[in-house]
Amino acid sequence: MNFEPCTYVIFGATGNLSHVKLMPALYHLDEEKRLPEGTKILAVGRRNWDKARWTEEVRGMIQEKARGGLDENLFNQFAQRLEFHEGDISQADCFTTLADRINESDDLPKNIAFYLAISPGDFGHVVEDLSGVGLLTEDGGWRRIVIEKPFGYDLTSAQALQQRLTRHLTEEQIFRIDHYLGKGMVQNLLVFRFANTMLEPLWNRNYIDHVQITHSEQLGIGNRAQYYDNSGALRDMLQSHLLQLLTLVGMEPPAAMDSESLRDEKVKVLKSIRPIPKEAVNAHAFRAQYGPGTINGKKVKGYLQEENVPPNSTTETYAAMKLYIDNWRWRGVPFYLRTGKRLAKTQSMISICFRHPPLQFFRGTQVECMNPNWLLLGIQPEECIRMELLVKEPGLEMRKRTTSLDASYRKENEKSTDAYEDLLLDVIEGDRSLFLRFDEVEYAWRIVDPVIQKWAVERDYIATYPAGSWGPEETKRLFEKESQWWRHSLLPECN
Ligand code: BG6
Repeated sequence: MNFEPCTYVIFGATGNLSHVKLMPALYHLDEEKRLPEGTKILAVGRRNWDKARWTEEVRGMIQEKARGGLDENLFNQFAQRLEFHEGDISQADCFTTLADRINESDDLPKNIAFYLAISPGDFGHVVEDLSGVGLLTEDGGWRRIVIEKPFGYDLTSAQALQQRLTRHLTEEQIFRIDHYLGKGMVQNLLVFRFANTMLEPLWNRNYIDHVQITHSEQLGIGNRAQYYDNSGALRDMLQSHLLQLLTLVGMEPPAAMDSESLRDEKVKVLKSIRPIPKEAVNAHAFRAQYGPGTINGKKVKGYLQEENVPPNSTTETYAAMKLYIDNWRWRGVPFYLRTGKRLAKTQSMISICFRHPPLQFFRGTQVECMNPNWLLLGIQPEECIRMELLVKEPGLEMRKRTTSLDASYRKENEKSTDAYEDLLLDVIEGDRSLFLRFDEVEYAWRIVDPVIQKWAVERDYIATYPAGSWGPEETKRLFEKESQWWRHSLLPECN
């Protein structure tokens, strides 16, 4: 399908997100010939730069991040799309001059996507200011706002932000990003579940013992202390990305694969999650903070020693939760979610543990590993779907071993695309399936709010773990039974 050209206006264009994700993604889309002819990218930033200076900056970003390096011809073509607008979003004239420039230009298409890669505290007023200068009125073309996470700080602030936005925008104009939904393996999860019949009869409480969703990172907080110390792991990863993964594992088949049907089903899952009573927060959630430790043989600082972190901070860099989806399919099956910085490995995976057979016929034989069947979905860095089964070891003894059926997502010669490429393209094409509807965000906040509130008042103690470990042992207390344990790897593991 041919789409009309648009202007991508990027607020916060000189910041980190633009540097590492947005500009490289737009470059790759250009390489794939997916940007409609005439599309322009207008960066808004405080620096006193012109087009030439900005182009040099972007060249540096692409050199660093482009797959296979920067291609001169392609970059020259891409550079034709680049424009720079000097402006400080805290000043009203940034918006009046922007409106004049857009309205008076013959070059800048009037379909406009405003990408807010800025501090969340600025989302509300930037939308108001854009509206104030008439830039959100859809008379000469569509106008869309792309909002990065976090959408709000808790339930109340998310509702307040939504009210502020909807005075100037319709829901159709708002694209709330959760970049996890742009990841190839996350979309593959939908295909895996709804394009195959084989697993569907097993995808429920009768066969599944529990589900684990893990995102772990070796990196610390880097230079993001200001944001992170006010956010913490629960808000930063769990309320957004991990709950989204949970909805995709837990949802019913949608009536159709359009954005509304898909999101209706995801909301149903979030609505069915059993609320955590305040007095049961400790049984359902666990938090901790990294101390000094070793990553890949190198000594690293603890969280409290990181630059700009207050010395008495009790912000969590590790968060784990146990949730139950109270519906016919999932009642009684625990979903364990965990995320952390400075952990032993960088990876995201979903591990689904099946029930043990009703009778253990092979007890008393030389079986070393009595593991149940696992279905493992590697999201990153390894992208795979793996089913672990027990088989007999060849030989005279009755020994078992674990083997796995592998449905790898990518073949060696198939290139990977970044989540942002998919999402930036969807904005141009007006496809909101992979963006969050407000009720999704709202229900996600409802789930974590009791935990946020409890942790906010209990600020005198937080458990710690050495950087480079898998987090504190005490997280095990979330498990319902002794036979459940954190699965760390896509390779066969024995309890
Ligand atoms: C972001 C969080 O949304 O996701 C970061 O703010 C986190 O703290 C990042 O590191 C993880 O994303 P990815 O794509 O690297 O798994």
